[in-house]
Amino acid sequence: MSQPVRATQRVKISALGTYVPPRLLTNADLEKMVETSNEWIMSRTGIRERHIVDPGVATSDLAVAAAKRALAERGLEPSDIEAILVATVTPDMFFPSTACLVQHKLGADGAWGFDLSAACSAFLYALQTGAQFVATGAHKRVLVIGADVMSSILDYSDRSTCILFGDGAGAVILEASEDDSLGLIDFLHEVDGSGGCSLFMPGGGSLHPSTHETVDQKMHYVHQDGQAVFKYAVRKMAELCEKMLVRNGIKGTDIAAFIPHQANKRIISATADRLSLRPESVIVNIDRYGNTTAGTIPLAMETARQDGKLKKGDLVLLASVGAGFTAGAALLRWAC
Ligand code: UT7
Repeated sequence: MSQPVRATQRVKISALGTYVPPRLLTNADLEKMVETSNEWIMSRTGIRERHIVDPGVATSDLAVAAAKRALAERGLEPSDIEAILVATVTPDMFFPSTACLVQHKLGADGAWGFDLSAACSAFLYALQTGAQFVATGAHKRVLVIGADVMSSILDYSDRSTCILFGDGAGAVILEASEDDSLGLIDFLHEVDGSGGCSLFMPGGGSLHPSTHETVDQKMHYVHQDGQAVFKYAVRKMAELCEKMLVRNGIKGTDIAAFIPHQANKRIISATADRLSLRPESVIVNIDRYGNTTAGTIPLAMETARQDGKLKKGDLVLLASVGAGFTAGAALLRWAC
């Protein structure tokens, strides 16, 4: 039940949980499936392996596993959650929303929720959207999940896309911050729909409903102009991050952890160079997970935490670029 809207208050991430399916798809495996090589994949993308679901496992399953870990970390019951936002481009099905499926599987009685579609920027957009409900006082606890089963929309005979992606999920709980110096500080998001034709899945929607023809033409798979996306990503991620630093009076060296969307190690390195970040502050785990779309940023938060690079009070910069085009950046002080 929502509360009357009050003055805004600082919002923090109070818990984090992640999940990847156990099955690994390595570059060596892919060498047997398409004409590629470990050397090409590593040098062009930085990816060594990715996790892939078994048949019958869907996005809601990964989302629920990650959410349970976040709830356990905070010592909360599912019924303590008031709203569930699921960032995904691979919902279990068109409807009901994956948020409804997660609510039911978790047993989050009384919660409402919805899915948010913004491809690789969806976790950042959902984080900001969920934060508004807490900032206004409408809700005490919001669950934000980024989850994707990219293997369900990949053509494993197309070497230009199938080597890039993996499956995974991450969940955070948002609550009001009792310490005003900790929590979300600023966000900067934008979309540029002129880039829609550079990365898309054309089939199955209202424009091209599924038919034998759309399937024969492989329209139910990811299609990408890699170089166009790469150029946009390198330019836009650095541009948004620079704006974020300038308008908050922060230098690159002040950032304790830079946690970017993990699409290509070269995109991350180019952004880090342009922002003059300290090398040890740049969080990279693309080698282990590939691009898990909405899952990358929470998975990278977990990597940062496990590596001792994410401590209470640390200044953290999040950044993403993805299909749409969508792009985003967020600044926060880590609170848990
Ligand atoms: O998260 C969503 C946002 N997505 C992204 O940010 C992805 C952005 N783009 C990229 O990361 C890069 O463009 C890719 C990794 C997708 C591709 O790297 P690239 O350096 O841009 O390669 P390319 O597409 O220009 O292809 C170079 C060559 C081509 O061969 P020719 O024409 O030079 O003979 C490709 O056919 O590499 C070939 N190629 C491959 N070779 C071996 C493409 N894929 C492969 C492969 N293995 N898997």
